[in-house]
Amino acid sequence: MINNKIIENCKDELKNYYNNYIKEKKSNNIYLEDKYFNYFLQIIDRFSKQPLSTQEEIFNFLGLSNKNDLVFLNDAIRASSIAQNLITKSGIGKKYWNTIMPFAKTTEQTLENNYQFPQRIALFPGVSCMFYCGFCGRNQSEKYPTSILNESKLTFDKLFSQIRNSTALSISGGLEPLTNPKIGEIISSARNNDIRVPLITNGYSLTENFLKRTPGIWDLDSLRISLYGIDKESYKFITRVEKSFDIVKKNTISFLKLRNINNKNLKFGFNFIVIPENVNQLNGILELVKSINENVDNGRGVDFLTLRDDYQSVTGNDDKFDEERKYKLSTKMDTKVRNILIDKLGEFEINKSKLCPELYVDYGYSLEALYKNIFDKQLIKVTHKEMRNFGFTQMSVAIDLYGDVFVYREAGFLNRKGNKKFIIGRINKNNSLEDVIKKFLKNKKPINYEFQDERFMDSFDHVLTSLVNQAEKDQKFDIPFKKGPILGRIMSNEINLGNNWYTEKN
Ligand SMILES: C[S@@+](CC[C@H](N)C(=O)[O-])C[C@H]1O[C@@H](n2cnc3c(N)ncnc32)[C@H](O)[C@@H]1O
Ligand code: SF4
Repeated sequence: MINNKIIENCKDELKNYYNNYIKEKKSNNIYLEDKYFNYFLQIIDRFSKQPLSTQEEIFNFLGLSNKNDLVFLNDAIRASSIAQNLITKSGIGKKYWNTIMPFAKTTEQTLENNYQFPQRIALFPGVSCMFYCGFCGRNQSEKYPTSILNESKLTFDKLFSQIRNSTALSISGGLEPLTNPKIGEIISSARNNDIRVPLITNGYSLTENFLKRTPGIWDLDSLRISLYGIDKESYKFITRVEKSFDIVKKNTISFLKLRNINNKNLKFGFNFIVIPENVNQLNGILELVKSINENVDNGRGVDFLTLRDDYQSVTGNDDKFDEERKYKLSTKMDTKVRNILIDKLGEFEINKSKLCPELYVDYGYSLEALYKNIFDKQLIKVTHKEMRNFGFTQMSVAIDLYGDVFVYREAGFLNRKGNKKFIIGRINKNNSLEDVIKKFLKNKKPINYEFQDERFMDSFDHVLTSLVNQAEKDQKFDIPFKKGPILGRIMSNEINLGNNWYTEKN
């Protein structure tokens, strides 16, 4: 059954296209039967909802008995721009499609373990962190020695000079990036190499004084503050720092005023992780944004908000994996909370149009479905058994202040228990990222995974793992991506990784 109204509305147009395609290709007339046109629609519908479906699953789902039929239908879908649009833009899988497409083109290289410069690099330049968020996988007693800062800056300079247009960089953590006194110089160095830089921070150090000392901040493309509550109490519950709310709010206002003077193009937003403890805070975010915007008296306020699920790097995992923590969140998102969340997101949409109509909201992967009033259990996640033997260095790596290269992003916390096996080498003045990755791939020593190692992956790593696994399964089923229904997975056009959380165009 097709319940995607947009696909239903295009049915006549698709039927015309489908019949003409069969005539033009002089395909077997058997395909003119309604049954096949129905399969054609169902494949489009299924991929618009579940982009990570395998060919074998589709084959069984449609009850086909001949793989050639599926290959024919895929060819017809691949050749239709309407079908391609419907798959990638009309359904609840849209966010996944946005992320997946540029990386899907690299699955073959990844499956072959061929070297390719990573498409995405997450840089973790933070020295330490002053917060103790319950869902964060950092080792709360660790910080880097400041004696390495000069060396690290030189290593990063070299890295930036080697990054090409097709690679996206982001600055995050690891720990808290603004604790690096050279953060401004690091941003400017990337910018001078024509790299667009988004940064994510907890915002605690983003004071007016810091901004005076750090003019490089204005070279950012976007700055996102991770919002850990909506008032003093809720903020302290997550961060364990008494004045965290007041300081972050004050910093946000002064940052925005200066942004409107120094670089109007710099986009500013908040990131909010939805956990059972805070589903009631969604409307409070809008009140907070409104109040901040009212205090910014010289132009634009908050541009965007990203809402995210907890990818369970800590919550839901065995306690034995944790170092000493200040506290541990006790609950995990479940069906009951998710149903409440659907209602809350409905209210949120209505209030948004009243309180902050200009605010762009990005619901991330799975919340996108909920906000459209469709139940979606959780993020796409894999277990340690499905993790890739060699990660996917062709697609993504993370690099910390030591220059250590991590295959997964949640592994990139200094001395996080169990993370050593995810370090594939160290970049420095003699050793480039290319050297490190080539050596790792040449060694052919697979990573040895253990129970709950998936906690070292964030949601993006989970999606990439699922994508490479999908490509592998399709290959084994003899219908590889190039014979599948999606043109964008194989088209060799310019790759736009869209490091933006502030527009639909990513
Ligand atoms: C690890 S932090 C590092 C940067 C900085 N300290 C901060 O908090 O923004 C990077 C981002 O990951 C988010 N994050 C941490 N743990 C998470 C989890 N379990 N699920 C989803 N996002 C998480 C943080 O909220 C933040 O937005
Ligand atoms: S999420 Fe960011 S602010 Fe919170 S503890 Fe982790 S590194 Fe620190």
